[in-house]
Amino acid sequence: TVDQLTRVEEVEKYLEPFQLSLEMLQEVSARLRKDLIRGLGKRSHHKAPVKMLPTFVRATPDGTEKGDFLALDLGGTNFRVLHVRVEEEEQRVLKMNSQICAIPKEIMLGTGEQLFDHIAACLGEFLESQKLKGQTLPLGFTFSFPCEQLGIDKSILIRWTKGFNCSGVEGKDVVKLLKEAIHRRGDYDIGTVAMVNDTVGTMMSCGYRDQNCEIGMIVGTGTNACYMEEMKHVKRVEGEDGRMCINTEWGGFGDDGSLNDIVTEFDVEVDKTSINPGIHIFEKMISGMYLGEIVRLVLVKMTKDQLLFKGQMSEALRTPEQFETKLISEIEDGLDNTKKILTTLGLDWEPVDACVVRLVCDTISSRSARLCAAALATLTNRIRTNRKLDHLKTTVGVDGTVYRKHPTIELQKAVCLLAPRCDITFLVSEDGSGKGAAMVTAVAQRESCVRSDDE
Ligand code: BGC
Repeated sequence: TVDQLTRVEEVEKYLEPFQLSLEMLQEVSARLRKDLIRGLGKRSHHKAPVKMLPTFVRATPDGTEKGDFLALDLGGTNFRVLHVRVEEEEQRVLKMNSQICAIPKEIMLGTGEQLFDHIAACLGEFLESQKLKGQTLPLGFTFSFPCEQLGIDKSILIRWTKGFNCSGVEGKDVVKLLKEAIHRRGDYDIGTVAMVNDTVGTMMSCGYRDQNCEIGMIVGTGTNACYMEEMKHVKRVEGEDGRMCINTEWGGFGDDGSLNDIVTEFDVEVDKTSINPGIHIFEKMISGMYLGEIVRLVLVKMTKDQLLFKGQMSEALRTPEQFETKLISEIEDGLDNTKKILTTLGLDWEPVDACVVRLVCDTISSRSARLCAAALATLTNRIRTNRKLDHLKTTVGVDGTVYRKHPTIELQKAVCLLAPRCDITFLVSEDGSGKGAAMVTAVAQRESCVRSDDE
């Protein structure tokens, strides 16, 4: 009906600020390019919103790595312990076994000592069940927060992100905190430790299968990417030769206000009510921890403006964080799903409401995908110009629930437009952060053997 048509038109106007044109995405990519350079610079680094952290990973796998490893994975919703075997003959990384431990909210917001005691206890339990307690295996620790690495086994937490906020950890060496917790127990020990961001783990685990893999990207609870940068551009680390993997921490893009012209009133609200206001502005427009809340805020305002549900709110819609991000992809799956979900949320809907809600979800998730694409294109374009190539063929290892659950075509289409001279293959990493942590540890061991052979 005419009434419904005008309603849809009004809704579209409402959603306009979320629609980013190709020109705008190009502009976003150009701004990020400048921020990458600021982050890499020796003096500009301190104030840079995009931290560009050296990872001390200098080489991707070459297929000769092997051995047994432990891997820890902390940073998403769960904590995981894995026993991983890297097999040279078959070029395979095998997950021998793994265990998931929940991290209760009290621990996520408690003291650092409690957190690391909890981690050490989970690891102990796992070693016991796998009869591995007597061995001291090398350990890869995937710790998915921004860390200033002073070496592969020395890693200072800059700040917590996502839902974590344990006291007494920021500014401290995470490897030391882990080892102290293990020694407090005294019933087992671990070998050498390699610290890994999840993006790096993802890149490295894909790198065993595809040696063109030089970027790792996560679109999950948080978002971030790493890539192989020329050593001569990494001004904060000695040496000019070869490459080093840089953890960009692109989630912090916009923290100096550089994205204020595309940030909507809803983004501002999500940021204000988060546990770390002002921090990780880009991440808050893209990742799973925040997308559901953005959608909820839009729906609330539309309802107040009589554009939805005859102006009638429900308890669930009114409550912060009640609209989970996973509902977005379920709603995108179809109208029948949408209607079921609206009913579960206690809303009294008409068919047109379901269409509007679906449009809102499509819009928010497509903005997330396009922003991610702009950032990714910035990295591939940089690798291409770094190497003075006319054309770059590269692989991106990807992981994260948001990437896995949403149609990725939007992201891929936008990257093609923004990086026309890059031919990009996407490889979804299986168990990336666990297996990747083992790979980093294995490559570090291989490299240190090579170095001592040289001496
Ligand atoms: C963290 C990154 C991490 C990303 C994805 C962000 O909040 O700062 O270190 O890679 O989340 O897990």
